[in-house]
Amino acid sequence: MYLELDGRGPLYDQLTRALKASILDGRIAAGTQLPPTRELADELDLSRTTVLAAYEQLRAEGFIAGRVGSGSYVSDLQARPCNHHAETSIPAPSRYAQRAREVRNWDIPRIHRGLRYNLQYGNPLVNPALNNAWGRELARAANYTRLVVNEVAGLNALRKQTCDYLARRRGVQAEPDDLLIVCGTQQAITLISRVLLEEGDRVVLEEPHYFGAHQALVAHGVELVAIRTDEQGILCSELPEQSPRLIYVTPSHQFPTGSILSLQRRKELLRYAEQHQCWIVEDDYDGEFSYESQPMPALRSLDHGDRVIYVGTFSKVMFGGLRLAYMVLPAALRVDFRNAKYLGDMSCPVIEQSALAHFMEDGGFERHLRLSRKELKSRREALIAGLKEHARDRVEIADTPAGMHLVVWLPGYDQTRCDALIAYAHDQGLGLYPMAPLYLHAPPRPGLMLGYCSLSVTEIREAMQLFGQCLDHFQAR
Ligand SMILES: Cc1ncc(COP(=O)(O)O)c(C=O)c1O
Repeated sequence: MYLELDGRGPLYDQLTRALKASILDGRIAAGTQLPPTRELADELDLSRTTVLAAYEQLRAEGFIAGRVGSGSYVSDLQARPCNHHAETSIPAPSRYAQRAREVRNWDIPRIHRGLRYNLQYGNPLVNPALNNAWGRELARAANYTRLVVNEVAGLNALRKQTCDYLARRRGVQAEPDDLLIVCGTQQAITLISRVLLEEGDRVVLEEPHYFGAHQALVAHGVELVAIRTDEQGILCSELPEQSPRLIYVTPSHQFPTGSILSLQRRKELLRYAEQHQCWIVEDDYDGEFSYESQPMPALRSLDHGDRVIYVGTFSKVMFGGLRLAYMVLPAALRVDFRNAKYLGDMSCPVIEQSALAHFMEDGGFERHLRLSRKELKSRREALIAGLKEHARDRVEIADTPAGMHLVVWLPGYDQTRCDALIAYAHDQGLGLYPMAPLYLHAPPRPGLMLGYCSLSVTEIREAMQLFGQCLDHFQAR
């Protein structure tokens, strides 16, 4: 397909314009099937993400129809009532919107439905007792809560309960005034970008890392520096000499490898932040789920320079759809973060906050936490036992007795074979997910991330048996 890119602006924009021009002047006729994204990307020497983004834009504007995967066809523009010139000359969206469009097209682990056993990370632990208790709390909160727009920082009762919880469980000493209740870690990262980062600022993150943070930071337009991790967490000796503005880490349970940042590295990291005058974001997403010992206190509890922005979420301890999380903010940042939160959405929904505060105060939250921890521990044990029995030495388990997922490496596999294994397992009804999309650079070895939260012990045993059969199939080839 002959297409000339005009060299103006982002590549996906150039490609969108070139395709539109060809469609409008009839060189690509209505009803023509556009080449598959991979093929066009190879032909034009572009990334597939760029082509996906261009197709998505053309689809949004009605130039093409059909879905990625099942073919994209040029629409019959004559049949459309509006004028194309007006459409092509609408002002371009902001650079943020363009970058956001690109990151939303990344090949990150997506939820697959209809699989017999889905080891998708992020699926919730189903607990009918929680559903009942939560229903009662919501009904109660709807009756007893003042239904007005709440304080920007969040409901005082919830901030107070969260402070007690943080002191008890995570060793973090904070006052309600230090807290900002936000709609998920995702919003915390967006607010952090807005308040602390300019486009082009340098930000350090772990390699591999949490895709949600990665996406939000790229959409903001920062320059990312990915620092390798090992079994003691981020390799502080590899932190850049040129000062970053911010370092984003998951010290309690490195996402996704599971390592716990050692005490020595914690001190090194804090010293580095002090010397380089940068902020640290501590994402403590599942620090509560430690199965064999007391979890290590949060990095924030060692921070005497007030440089650590601690982010905790209720997505893991409760459920992701709740969309409530909290930030413990250094004193110097409180006002700016409250302002950004106010301008974004004024405050989080009040009934959910009120229900959660009462659930915590009443002891229901702690009971639920104890039960979840017990249940997750036995699921994790079943997964490891199943791997040892059925996968044997064909996988290497990255074993940390914590969290809701596990990483296994596949010795002797390259990425192509790993992808083929995933596709084959998928056809057998087993959802496996690759580690590769969680790296900024090429991953050093192929691996899988196995989320065990939403399968029962029996299902996990069956899933591991099937996993063993999938590995057999690949061994036999
Ligand atoms: C590393 C990490 N941080 C945070 C979260 C939770 O994000 P949120 O609070 O936006 O649901 C997750 C969950 O998937 C995670 O894996």
